[in-house]
Amino acid sequence: MAIESVRERIQAVRWDGKQLSILDQTKLPGQEVWIGLTGAKDTADAIERLAVRGAPNIGIAAAYGLAMELSANPSLGALEEGADVLVSSRPTAVNLAWAVERVRTAVMGAGPSTIASAARGEAQKIQASEDAASLALSHHGADVLTDAGARTILTHCNTGALATGGRGSALAVCIELAERHEGVKVIACETRPLLQGARLTAWELQKLGIPFALIVDGAAASILRRGLADAVVVGCDRVAANGDAANKVGTYSHALAAQAASAPFLVAGPTSTIDLATPDGDAIEIEERDAAEVTSYNNTPVAPAGTPALNPAFDVTPASLITALVTERGIASPVTTDAIAALLS
Ligand code: MRU
Repeated sequence: MAIESVRERIQAVRWDGKQLSILDQTKLPGQEVWIGLTGAKDTADAIERLAVRGAPNIGIAAAYGLAMELSANPSLGALEEGADVLVSSRPTAVNLAWAVERVRTAVMGAGPSTIASAARGEAQKIQASEDAASLALSHHGADVLTDAGARTILTHCNTGALATGGRGSALAVCIELAERHEGVKVIACETRPLLQGARLTAWELQKLGIPFALIVDGAAASILRRGLADAVVVGCDRVAANGDAANKVGTYSHALAAQAASAPFLVAGPTSTIDLATPDGDAIEIEERDAAEVTSYNNTPVAPAGTPALNPAFDVTPASLITALVTERGIASPVTTDAIAALLS
């Protein structure tokens, strides 16, 4: 399905040249509510509360947030303050800091009267390049799965057009595979605690007409073991220089299960998610979110009052468990420091 047809059905962000609007993903699938944003602070708030989410899309939103801030106040002070508030809204996905840095660099190269237009132009470039990356990586990923003869694909979290430019990362690979072959099916993990799989991936797959089944996260290992899924494809929030990949918590367990079942385990994402400044997975900061996300759902308690909880939002899968890292520039397989450096060279 072409990016245009996906966009007719699923959009996470809209830029009208001056203002960014986002589809509030906290309200999906029940309600489709669009929110207009105005600058760095409200964009950072939307990112922090996951109204806009997914590594590439928080980069895109942050770039527009900074551009809107600079339109209102075209100064270097506003640039620094806006950049700080945006970058600190979520720590794990490197796309956020990457996009803000790109806007900062574009603005530094502009004259005082063109600060705002330079920022807007850079944000649009970022969105366009993420759209193109989604399309290219979906082809590379579908090539790998086609070669492996995989037709039933297990995935985690939400990695479609709600999370990235274009039509997604891991989900875009599934979409491309479904276009190429009859009988492709997605097994979507619900993704506790915030149910991005149940609420968002199921919503996207329904809109796209791709056959799928939703499972609880705990069912994934036995589904792989029983041969009911042929491969796992997930997205990523930060890939370290050695190929260790941070993604939504639960991903590492799927990688271990895939290895035990001898199923290919693919990590898909644009190169904006690769961070050569982070040497390995141990150096990736893992966002710790409010314990209430674990002890309650939608403000309804699911545990006794006073229950202590840990809520790491991401985990790290070691490169040794990843069959292939799929990017718009091609794949790294095996996933090694050299193969990643070669992709970026
Ligand atoms: O907390 P979220 O919903 O922003 O987490 C999203 C993920 O972990 C995705 O898998 C990741 O961003 C890749 S999306 C291309």
